[in-house]
Amino acid sequence: MLVILLIIGGCDWSVGQPAESRLPSGKPEVQRLNQPPVPPVIRRKGREVFIEMTAQITQIEISKGVPYEAWTFGGTVPGPLIRVKEGDQLHFTLNNIDPETPHSMDFHAVHAAPNHKFTDVMPGDRMTFSYPANSPGVFMYHCGTKPVLMHLANGMYGMIIVEPKDGYPTDQQVDREYMIVQSEWYKENDYQDFLNGRPRYVVFNGDNFTLTDHPLTARTGDRVRLYVLNAGPNEVSSFHVVGTLMDTVYLDGNPLNVLHGMQTVLLPASGGAVVEFQLTEAGDYTMLSHQFNQASKGAAGLIRVIPDGK
Ligand code: CU
Ligand code: CU
Repeated sequence: MLVILLIIGGCDWSVGQPAESRLPSGKPEVQRLNQPPVPPVIRRKGREVFIEMTAQITQIEISKGVPYEAWTFGGTVPGPLIRVKEGDQLHFTLNNIDPETPHSMDFHAVHAAPNHKFTDVMPGDRMTFSYPANSPGVFMYHCGTKPVLMHLANGMYGMIIVEPKDGYPTDQQVDREYMIVQSEWYKENDYQDFLNGRPRYVVFNGDNFTLTDHPLTARTGDRVRLYVLNAGPNEVSSFHVVGTLMDTVYLDGNPLNVLHGMQTVLLPASGGAVVEFQLTEAGDYTMLSHQFNQASKGAAGLIRVIPDGK
């Protein structure tokens, strides 16, 4: 089985403007921060999982030729996929190398007092928090530092999968699996636009081109599972795959929340799902948000199905 994590991020208000004028802070281009991506460190010891992630500022590309100075976990948007098991105890360390801004971590997958366990980590500091992951599902994680919208719209979110302790009833039927995170990009680092504007791009896995230029792959007859999440921050999503039906859907990834024969799955901001479908004919299948202004702004990608045996 394979989970693909595709990344990248940015915004288009640079188009046609001189370089200096597109910097909201007025900083010259050379002073823009671009901290090299720091991959997460994940270690398991029995049911204890030790996870270290880095809050950092990194330049990403949200559309071709459109850079964005993103606030990130680990230098990518979305942040790294975290995968644990129901019943695990997480020991999470946030290392904040952003020189200016506090950051924090809010895992939707855990039970914890937010004012004790989702607290700010100051620039240059690191803190460790522990909590149980007792509920299976596909969850959002994100920075919870105020104003939260600022940190979300600049890129601080990702997916954590908590695998059910007994697995999903359909595990044995699945041939391949992938991850899709929908999110929005606004004017770069512009809080007023985050609050009141319309997204410039709505994207899958951080940009509007990777999943069309490099389709996910499958073979005829395969059952495909997608872990999908709508990170928002402001819009809902109507997730749809053209040319098939999602015969099994676990809302929020909980095996008790099972639906069948779904054409479209509604994902609230921060909502997730496991969706499964079969691809019977060779060809290109488009995944998209059926809110077509979102698909037209980039929330689309391809699954390329090749004949089995070739
Ligand atoms: Cu933050
Ligand atoms: Cu949240």
